[in-house]
Amino acid sequence: MFSLKNKHAVITGGGSGIGRAISLLFAKQGATIHIIELNADAAQQTADEAIAAGGQAYVYAADISQQQQVLDVFAKINRVDILVNNAGIAHVGNLERTSPDDLDRIYNVNVKGAYNALYAAIPKMKAIGGGAIVNMASIAAWVGITDRFAYSMSKGAIMAMSLSVARDYLADNIRCNTISPARVHTPFVDGFIAKNYPGKEEEIFEKLSKSQPIGRMGKPEEVAALALYLCSDQAGFITGTDYPIDGGFITLNN
Ligand SMILES: NC(=O)c1ccc[n+]([C@@H]2O[C@H](COP(=O)([O-])OP(=O)(O)OC[C@H]3O[C@@H](n4cnc5c(N)ncnc54)[C@H](O)[C@@H]3O)[C@@H](O)[C@H]2O)c1
Repeated sequence: MFSLKNKHAVITGGGSGIGRAISLLFAKQGATIHIIELNADAAQQTADEAIAAGGQAYVYAADISQQQQVLDVFAKINRVDILVNNAGIAHVGNLERTSPDDLDRIYNVNVKGAYNALYAAIPKMKAIGGGAIVNMASIAAWVGITDRFAYSMSKGAIMAMSLSVARDYLADNIRCNTISPARVHTPFVDGFIAKNYPGKEEEIFEKLSKSQPIGRMGKPEEVAALALYLCSDQAGFITGTDYPIDGGFITLNN
């Protein structure tokens, strides 16, 4: 069950948080992992850890928002069975506190970045007779979250984009699903608390933990386990679906 032996998995943003946990777990399950990262040093640490545990891992320094960089990376990867579009960035602010530059920045990484990787990966999946894709969405695509205008927009786009891909590539045996985490404790969360709530870090951390009815944030490893299932052959009947992993955030917050 859940073996990824002989599969090649491309993971964006594998240097930190959820992407790091996915990279390590996929390598442990036998996949050769290919990490595309802006922060090559962090990705190399993930790769070194995967290799030390007996896995196979490669790192490619690239900015996923830049199509030519992404195409150049995929030109170096012979086989792509799995793509996890995980890299993403946040912006805190309502519409009036979202400048055109903020909007473009979030769009370019979270939406166009995912498009760039899909654009490069799908022909390679078609060539080998199929593949599995997981795109990282968010509960922000499901419910209205305070001060997440640009971010929510980008994650809604991820969900709609994934449905389109799932539909268009049914006949090519390519499955495409999304995962929608609520708050997961990663450097991404620590970073935006530090940036946006200086001096109130503990209070905000507590508040964000309690916003999940289950009473805590998720763990990157919990999201990785779901990604593993969705990318495994055991999930062969699943496509065009979103999986919230949210401690009850969407359905139990009443
Ligand atoms: N942590 C959460 O609470 C949470 C909740 C819902 C969804 N998500 C989503 O999960 C994904 C991962 O989040 P995380 O918390 O692990 O983030 P993180 O910040 O810990 O890690 C993201 C990684 O992506 C890389 N990255 C950023 N921009 C890039 C670019 N342009 N090109 C290549 N690499 C780039 C970063 O260098 C970083 O290593 C994101 O898409 C995020 O929106 C996170």
